[in-house]
This record gives sequence, structure tokens and C-alpha cells, in this order.
Amino acid sequence: MDLLLIGPPGVGKGTQAARLRQALGIPHLSTGDLLRRHAAEGTRFGTAAAAHMRRGDLVPDELVTEMALQQIRDRSCAAGVVLDGFPRTLTQAEALDTALAAAGRRLAAALHLTAPDQTLLRRLTGRRTCGGCGNSYHLDIRKPRTPGQCDNCGHRLVQRGDDTAETARVRLAAHTRQTQPLLARYRRAGILHEIDGCGDVGDITRRLLAVLAPHATESATL
Ligand code: AP5
Repeated sequence: MDLLLIGPPGVGKGTQAARLRQALGIPHLSTGDLLRRHAAEGTRFGTAAAAHMRRGDLVPDELVTEMALQQIRDRSCAAGVVLDGFPRTLTQAEALDTALAAAGRRLAAALHLTAPDQTLLRRLTGRRTCGGCGNSYHLDIRKPRTPGQCDNCGHRLVQRGDDTAETARVRLAAHTRQTQPLLARYRRAGILHEIDGCGDVGDITRRLLAVLAPHATESATL
């Protein structure tokens, strides 16, 4: 089953995608994480994307699409994938549909998580991420047991370069500008589900799984 988590920066796509991966047993593909990994390793993708990401702008379609489709076509994603942050534009969505159709697959659901801007800015500016395993924390909402240190692997927690208040605002504006046409496309296709991204993390996962229940049965039958 191929699923898309869509929504503004900080709404919880990464948090929920990791939980869906566990619940459904399909891999999680975050283009943001992938781009950061490429940037840290200085690859062709990473070098070309770094300046766009620092400013809070979207990375050009051709670059992110080539990188994402490489992963989606990988054997590890053959039974489906939880897409987190890809596609974000109509051009990316068209490329995804074509690639899935070529493999006899299609997007089962686009899950649109929403929350007020004030909530998003608070989540983004307070987020701290583990430099080792990538686990995510929050200064007020989800504190590590030892300040500044990951509960999982003990590595130091760092603030993402694009999580300052100024860049977070640019990212929110970019999301609003680029994503509206995408929502309209998935609404027309009858696969868009609006999910409230506020409240307890576990409750939000339950909302997502409730929407996905009929699809999970479908894939089990197939
Ligand atoms: P990306 O890394 O995808 O960033 P984003 O979309 O801005 O999303 P975030 O990772 O910031 O937030 P999230 O929704 O995953 O929230 P999270 O679960 O972490 O992309 C970064 C950049 O890469 C983009 O700006 C762009 O430049 C580029 N890029 C990526 N994909 C691209 C594409 N397809 N095309 C072009 N460019 C692309 O949660 C946030 C915080 O809130 C955490 O601290 C978490 O612990 C906390 N939290 C989560 N849920 C809750 C809750 N229910 N209650 C309280 N706190 C919560």
C-alpha cells in the first residue's frame, strides 16, 4: 500500500510516518531526511539542494523527483511506502503517478494533516533532533530524559538549520503556495483525507489508522 502524508512544516508528518511504518510494516520515505543525508555526505543531490533548504524554499522538482523515485523503485519499497514530504508540487505528483503506474501501483490515500500556524511555529522552533539516530524531541513538549542528549542512542541533540522562526515562516509560506493545487488534485481523485494534527501523538495515529483500515483490508486480501 502506497500512502502520502501531506501537510505544513511541523505538523507531525515525520512523527506519524514513523508510527505508521511500525503499525503497517512498510518503509517510511522522507525526502527532507534524504536530502539532509545527501547534504551531509556532499553528494550531487545534497550540494545542489543545500542552499534552497537553508532559505526554506522548495528544492527544484527535477532534483527531488529523481532522488525520491530512485528510492521508491528500490526493492525495499516494492510492497508500498509511507511517503513523507513527497510529492509537494503538481510536477512531482505527476512523476510519482507515472512511476507507480509503471509498477502496477497507485497511491491509496493522501492524508492531509493540519494544525494552526501558531502551533506549527512552536513545534518547529522547539524541535531538537538527534545527530545520531535522527530521533525527534521538543524543548517543552517532548523532552529527552537528559537535557541535550538522545534517549535512544545518547548522541547530542541539535537544532535543524531551517527551524529558526524566520526560516520556519518562509517554509510555511512555501507550503501554502505550492501545496494547494496538490490538495485539489487528490480531492478530485477521491483519495484526500483531512486529519486534525493537534492533540496527543497516539490519538493522531489512531485517526490515521481508522481512515486507512479499509485500505489495509484491501491489501491483505490482495
Ligand atoms: P522536511 O524535512 O520534509 O521538512 P517539513 O516538511 O518542513 O516538515 P518537518 O520535518 O519540519 O515537520 P514534520 O511535519 O515532519 O513534523 P515532525 O514530525 O518533525 O523538508 C525540509 C526541506 O527539504 C524543505 O523545506 C525543502 O527545502 C526540502 N524538501 C523536502 N521535500 C521536498 C520536496 N518534495 N520538494 C521540494 N523540496 C523538498 O514534528 C515537528 C515537532 O513537533 C517535533 O519536535 C515533534 O516532536 C513535535 N510534534 C509532532 N507531533 C506532535 C503532537 N501531536 N503534539 C506535540 N508535538 C508534536
